[in-house]
Amino acid sequence: MIEVLDDAAAVATAAAERVVALLAEPQERLAVCLSGGSTPERLYRLLASEYRARVPWPRVHWFFGDERFVPADSKDSNMRMAKQALFDRAPVPAANIHAIATGAASPDEAAVLYEKELQRFYGAERLDPRRPLFAVVLLGLGEDGHTASVFPGDPLLAETHRWVAGVERQGLAPLVPRVTLMLPALASTRELLFLVSGARKREALQRVLAGEHLPAAHARTEGAIVWLVDREALA
Ligand code: 6PG
Repeated sequence: MIEVLDDAAAVATAAAERVVALLAEPQERLAVCLSGGSTPERLYRLLASEYRARVPWPRVHWFFGDERFVPADSKDSNMRMAKQALFDRAPVPAANIHAIATGAASPDEAAVLYEKELQRFYGAERLDPRRPLFAVVLLGLGEDGHTASVFPGDPLLAETHRWVAGVERQGLAPLVPRVTLMLPALASTRELLFLVSGARKREALQRVLAGEHLPAAHARTEGAIVWLVDREALA
């Protein structure tokens, strides 16, 4: 489903509405998979402010779909952005924040550690399509069609076993190593929610909508796939 919104602020509001609706489940624990980059920051600030009363904070666990392999205080860190926009502004129990270990010896080691943490939370080493890992997975769209840190042409696109992998420098800025969830893990969700805004995303969005085999178009989920795009991004 594609929803066209007037601008980036409207995309963030529409996303907040969908996220709080997906979190209105009585489940004891709910997992949200956050995306990085700049687009989702507005959404995170909204969740901590206007939507604060509608988030069951003690029951929500926060994971990351990918992370740059940089120190947590680096300007390129997705954790740093989420901390400033959300975690430091809302009653999030520290135990509910699941960071990717960017202090590990390598992106691959961080990936192994994160995969174990996801499997511990899920309670199994194999994903069951009838029991999604996440209530919602937030994703962005890179100008080259990447999503999370799965880049076009990357052999990781064909990965079906691992949940998390290390990614050496590639793709777009910031040109740093990364750790990313694989598409099957990202697809284990009730809803895949893409947030896309701005004219610089036009080409990538057109290519995805034209059915080109890009990572952002590759995720297959039993759940819903929803694109929230603004007019600027929809050429
Ligand atoms: C990352 C993100 C990445 C992002 C897109 C869009 O860590 O970089 O996960 O997939 O969502 O690159 O980034 P912007 O929102 O900054 O345009």
